[in-house]
Amino acid sequence: MCGIFAVVSKNNVVDLLVSGLKALEYRGYDSSGLAVLSDKEIITVRATGKVINLEEKLKSNLIESRIGIAHTRWATHGKINELNAHPHVTKDIAIVLNGIIENFLQIKEMLISKGYSFFSETDAEVAAVLIQYYIDLNHSHLEAIKEAVNILLGSYSIIILHKEHEQKLFAVKKGAPVVIGINSEYGIVSSDIYSLANLVENVYFLEDKEIAEVSINNFQIYNLNLDFVPRETLKHNINIDEVSKGEFETFMQKEIYEQPAALKRCREQYIDITSEKIIYNNTEKLKEKIKDNITIVACGSSYYAALLAKHWFEEIANIKVDVEIASEFISKNYIFRSRATLLISQSGETKDTISALEAAKSKGQYIISLVNVVESTIARLSDIVLPIYAGQEIGVASTKAFLNQLLLLYLIVLITKDVEGKKIKNDILEIESVISESLKIDIPINIIELIKNSKTKIFTSREILLPIAYEACLKLKELSYLQAETIPAGEMKHGPIALIDESSIVIGIANSACSFYEKIISNFYEINSRGGKILAIIDKNSLHDFEITPYKITVPNINNKQLAPFATIIVFQKIAYEVAKSLGNDVDKPRNLAKSVTVE
Ligand code: M6R
Repeated sequence: MCGIFAVVSKNNVVDLLVSGLKALEYRGYDSSGLAVLSDKEIITVRATGKVINLEEKLKSNLIESRIGIAHTRWATHGKINELNAHPHVTKDIAIVLNGIIENFLQIKEMLISKGYSFFSETDAEVAAVLIQYYIDLNHSHLEAIKEAVNILLGSYSIIILHKEHEQKLFAVKKGAPVVIGINSEYGIVSSDIYSLANLVENVYFLEDKEIAEVSINNFQIYNLNLDFVPRETLKHNINIDEVSKGEFETFMQKEIYEQPAALKRCREQYIDITSEKIIYNNTEKLKEKIKDNITIVACGSSYYAALLAKHWFEEIANIKVDVEIASEFISKNYIFRSRATLLISQSGETKDTISALEAAKSKGQYIISLVNVVESTIARLSDIVLPIYAGQEIGVASTKAFLNQLLLLYLIVLITKDVEGKKIKNDILEIESVISESLKIDIPINIIELIKNSKTKIFTSREILLPIAYEACLKLKELSYLQAETIPAGEMKHGPIALIDESSIVIGIANSACSFYEKIISNFYEINSRGGKILAIIDKNSLHDFEITPYKITVPNINNKQLAPFATIIVFQKIAYEVAKSLGNDVDKPRNLAKSVTVE
């Protein structure tokens, strides 16, 4: 799950390559590199760490060229060092690759036996040398790529720069996204549409097992028989302003505070608050396909959104829900009881979720997706797409996208149940109000220190708030790198309570509107009796019950218990953010992670 970017232009492309990489850095930032052509020679520059390191290196290594390819890496095969950084270069070509070549060891062995050498530990270099091998067998460039693709197993996209082609880039896709943008100034190939949105208006998506030749203002797409394949033009309307931090210190902070606007943007597409009417026009189809059960598949935060949706579907609409983790879903003979499968994905490019979608489709499931990026692979493979309209989310940790997923899932449940517009409107207004109110809550410094200094950190809750406990814990782990886990409150006594001593903190979510309220309070007492500290996330109404702990954060009261999750989300985003900042971590680009996880 790396970012690949390439440009052919009438002018020098080096700065464009660097800014393209910066836009793609969310896909990985272990190392970066670029290759350009100068007098038919390939020149490469690589650096470990973030793209800024490559940029620094380029200052003392001034190069100029009108064609080049670039890469930002999330390491899979091979350590994080310059040798393993892309581009990988052979006698005639340089390539950048996003994805994984599963059979690289066998191919490497074969190529070594034929006298080829390797300089890195990566699977990607094998793709470069294999294409070179076919070029050496006198295949044309397209044929060499085609032959290689027929052998390379896995999921990947590759951009190829050829010494003989100073005005043409080649690209191939098998499982990982490739978008092409052209105009009279440029020919561009990239992993995502956002990275080229400020340079071109017209974009074209490559499909699996297609090869593209891209030049200024022109491109051609071929299938693996090398027949020409036509492609529809898509005019994007991406707002580039979203890509700036504005007055905020980090993208994540901006995205946290953008949430009221993101919620409004989403609901406006589905309901008209003034007339109290649903304006989403696929309601009947959705109802027909969901009927009385649905399967939901997702990863990470999107999976926790699915867990919460299960409560809503089952309690409010009496619709049975099966929720699955995408990466596990494909490894078993899944027996569907539903007609439709709902895939939830912010990026719409998560490889595990795409594979789950394909598996569900192959078993005749009707595919519904809830995505943020409507141009994504998941959206394009779906029968119905439900956009969450969160706007581009750049921080690796999901915030506004998670919240908008919840809002839309809740709306879908109400719509499916034919709940009257007035009630939907009231619920939406209540959600918007608790979100705005909770944005004003500051996390006290003693609580940040307590979390940092506690050896054992356990998030807990019950029922409808348990998915929020999972999400809260994931947020803390991915940003702070501190070990923590989530345990359902009722499960503590079945083993995990043995972890509790004076160095433990249990972060418990209770809400007086929920039926399990009394039970979770009892669970807090059980922790307290064993010396564990409790950070209670409670609503204003339940304050009086909490003499057992000096550590509490009070969230706004809610009238409808189904909305309790909305009252607590922001607090957890802020806790994770503040803990990570005080540890000096990069909250937008936490270590070892990438925003879009395009490998299995
Ligand atoms: O783009 P997706 O929603 O499919 O991504 C799924 C997960 O990779 C994602 O939610 C991840 O867990 C985030 N880093 C959470 O903050």
